[in-house]
Amino acid sequence: MVQRPRRLRKNEIIRDMVAETKLSAGMFVYPYFVVPGMGVKHAIPSMPGIHHFSVDELLKDVEQGLKAGVNKLLLFGVGEEKSADAHGAYDPHSIVPETIKQLRKAFGSQLYIITDVCVCAYTTHGHCGILQDDYVQNDPTLDVLAKMALSHARAGADMVAPSDMMDGRVGAIRQALDAEGLVNTGIMSYAVKFSGAYYGPFREAADSAPGKGDRKSYQLDFRNSREALREAALDEAEGADILMVKPALAYLDLIASLRAATTLPVACYNVSGEFSMVKAAAMNGWADERAMVMENMYAFARAGAGIIITYHTRDILEKNWL
Ligand code: PBG
Ligand code: ZN
Repeated sequence: MVQRPRRLRKNEIIRDMVAETKLSAGMFVYPYFVVPGMGVKHAIPSMPGIHHFSVDELLKDVEQGLKAGVNKLLLFGVGEEKSADAHGAYDPHSIVPETIKQLRKAFGSQLYIITDVCVCAYTTHGHCGILQDDYVQNDPTLDVLAKMALSHARAGADMVAPSDMMDGRVGAIRQALDAEGLVNTGIMSYAVKFSGAYYGPFREAADSAPGKGDRKSYQLDFRNSREALREAALDEAEGADILMVKPALAYLDLIASLRAATTLPVACYNVSGEFSMVKAAAMNGWADERAMVMENMYAFARAGAGIIITYHTRDILEKNWL
């Protein structure tokens, strides 16, 4: 035989030399759930190792993480006042702007702060937009999203990440930011976001499950990939700086095709349900957690993701799993 592929797999040294996919600490973004109050560090049962933090406790946890290089955060506000018009979502004194200010005061530019922009944790009905006649209204929601993004940017967020899937929201947010001179605030768009069952643990954590109905009239249908690329192209045209695919594991094909279709950075969100599946298997002794987590991370990178948003970030960086 002239061709013996196993020659390149003989031992770890040669395998490392020919490895096609590399991971680095800088690729990982860590999500945080922040709640009003003081002294709160409350475990989220469906997401082992993940907590609800009040700002004071969050500061301590972020300080710990920073030592291991956890310097890119994605913030979610939980437990604010809920209303039909979602006004809590853009209140400048609400939990997310407050948290951004405190983080900035404590850590300055050591931290890159990204915020989720969506109203589902701030609406009484739990939908990602303004509801009328049981239908999520697109254009009235844009105004609320733009105000929410502005409140985060004014407080000092580096980047806002709209996760609602309304049409035109990236453009509306870009315009609102630019109108205030916030031209350096970036937008990471949840561009390719599918409706499905993998957000279950998150919705428990964020108390953001829709009371009635589902998100299928705005999030993507998982039977479609061309529609997904169309969404991404629109967000790029509207001014997105980074395009995200979400969830990640069952959507590696989309990560790969989006990587080929755009010159923008491509991120993936390894969502709560994916995290909880791995944790549950590991806690039952059915899988080697580190091995399974890293296999998943390499799969995201191999598919084409340059940025990985994952609840495993702390474990990966603090326990030196890379
Ligand atoms: C809010 C939002 C969700 C997630 C991120 N932003 C939930 C949803 O769309 O229902 C999911 C994150 C996760 O499951 O880890 N729209
Ligand atoms: Zn939402």
